[in-house]
Amino acid sequence: MKETDIGIAGTGFYVPEKVLTNADLEKMVDTSDEWIIKRTGIRERRISGPEETVSSMAEIASRKALEAAGVSPQDLDLIIMGTFTPDNPLPAAACLLQARLGNDHAPSFDLSAACSAFLYGLELGQKLLSSGAYQNALILVSEKLSTVVNWEDRDTCVLFGDGAGAAVITHDAGRGHILDCYIGADGRKAQLMEIPAGGSALPMTHEVLDQKLQYLRMEGRETFKLAVSSMVSASKLVLERNGYTADDITWLIPHQANLRIMKAVAKGLKLPVEKVYINVDRFGNMSGATIPIALAEMAQKNILKKGDLVLMVAFGGGLTWGASLIRW
Ligand code: UT7
Repeated sequence: MKETDIGIAGTGFYVPEKVLTNADLEKMVDTSDEWIIKRTGIRERRISGPEETVSSMAEIASRKALEAAGVSPQDLDLIIMGTFTPDNPLPAAACLLQARLGNDHAPSFDLSAACSAFLYGLELGQKLLSSGAYQNALILVSEKLSTVVNWEDRDTCVLFGDGAGAAVITHDAGRGHILDCYIGADGRKAQLMEIPAGGSALPMTHEVLDQKLQYLRMEGRETFKLAVSSMVSASKLVLERNGYTADDITWLIPHQANLRIMKAVAKGLKLPVEKVYINVDRFGNMSGATIPIALAEMAQKNILKKGDLVLMVAFGGGLTWGASLIRW
């Protein structure tokens, strides 16, 4: 596949200050630090305060990405924001973010692709920039999952955290060249991960609230299996169609849902686990925000070196999946 001139010029992330540890969760539900670490690899996660919103967290991550890219907010001509926990159902959180940044013209919209949202955004952003119609795009994911988690349900509440990760993509970025993106979906298994109520199919009523249908539910075991097989096949697809093998990868940045899933994906690709970037232990599953946060964290810590081949891969609600190859 032909290498484009479009690259990730800057990244940024934000996680709330408040840390919720496994020990804290032991006091809330029937669980244990040992179970959570053994089954998920998660030790702690960040939870935003009542004054923090998806757009406020997005603003902090975005300003860092813009600064790193040397792009002013007014020079953005496209804002694509992944989220399924927007500030309000209307307007798009991306428009609230745009106003916060002081940009008054860029088309701004939310994208709903759960854990795959960053890779969906990257694919859209890259293709729109490739058309020549856009110059500087902000691609980000911000999630306040703590508001859709049922804190009485041990099956799910131990897994999730809040956070935002952003990337600015431009022509001639000089780094982070986007070599290829691949995205896909299969809506036939949508029920494996869903928030049943709060949309037009089941609007909020007292009954809905009593039945706790406003919260996220997931069939963990089935999702686990599909996550591994989908991420392995998506990774192989982008590697093969670009003439690479797993041996060529410097870093694998998988969606951070569960350490066991990430290890199984590495095994499926015959990739040493040392090449997998892992921060699920500190942040938990922040849905689509995990990949841009990992990328920004790696850039900030100077882990990514020029020329590194980076494979990002995700799987999540929808069902959705994606894989993207970057030459740093
Ligand atoms: O981000 C989008 C994609 N999401 C994912 O990829 C997540 C995929 N799924 C997973 O990560 C895992 O399936 C979980 C971490 C959610 C669950 O791990 P598991 O190894 O699949 O456990 P399980 O659901 O099969 O449950 C095993 C046992 C059950 O007890 P019994 O039936 O064996 O007696 C659960 O009730 O563990 C129990 N359990 C817990 N025990 C202590 C479930 N949650 C907990 C808990 N603490 N928090």
